[in-house]
Amino acid sequence: MKSTSLLLSGALSATVPLVSAGEIIWSGIFNESYTVENFDEWSWSNQVPPWQWYIHGSGDTATYLEVSPDFRNPDSTLADEAKGVRITIDDTSSWNGQTMMRSELIPQTTEDLGSGTLFYHFSLSVPAVPDETLEHQLAFFESHFTEIKYGGADGTSLSWYAGGTSQWTAELKANTWYNFAYGIDFSASTVALYASTGADPLEQVVEGVSASTSTNSADWHVGELRLDNGNAGGSEDWYWSGVYIESGDVTVDV
Ligand SMILES: *[C@@H]1O[C@H](CO)[C@@H](O)[C@H](O)[C@H]1NC(C)=O
Repeated sequence: MKSTSLLLSGALSATVPLVSAGEIIWSGIFNESYTVENFDEWSWSNQVPPWQWYIHGSGDTATYLEVSPDFRNPDSTLADEAKGVRITIDDTSSWNGQTMMRSELIPQTTEDLGSGTLFYHFSLSVPAVPDETLEHQLAFFESHFTEIKYGGADGTSLSWYAGGTSQWTAELKANTWYNFAYGIDFSASTVALYASTGADPLEQVVEGVSASTSTNSADWHVGELRLDNGNAGGSEDWYWSGVYIESGDVTVDV
């Protein structure tokens, strides 16, 4: 009996990687049956999960969004992730008369996304490097306490800002998947950054930085905001995959 269980546990530890994993409290992962039409089922009077879709330009949804296996990190190990989403901004992407171009999805959930320690996961990739003369804001909260920027003062880098200061950068190359998790401790008011590329597991690249961590659970903007300010920046595609929020321990597998 003893040797059997020893053998078993030996076999298990050899084949099952020791991945610590938290509990997914909200998932924006696209399964096989998800199509672009699903985004339009959401409205202020029909707030169906998992995504709010209202920050975009005057075109129809298919102008700005598409879901396809082509837009998923091919190295994703997430169960049920069959597709990723292409989120496009172009010169029609003014929302509410603003001079910035915006296409942004926001989680729709009744869960509390702003207490304890949570990990906000996302991966992004571009098929062509976007205009680096214009500032872009990506994966930001309304108060911008944590966000990725690209372009403008950051040039051709993806730059992680927390508490209003750039803390980490990586050159943005086309056809590369950049995997991230914001590790947000809403009690201690800190944010840490986990990052990797391609199939590599996430690593903590910046320890917790002080920031004014808060969310109303409906203000994490997954997509792009580009500060055109009257300069027509043209059409840009960004691919997003592996977007979910977990509590507990961080999952490092992409
Ligand atoms: C696919 O995802 C949608 C939205 O998250 C969900 O409502 C649906 O139940 C899922 N379908 C399957 C077959 O898992």
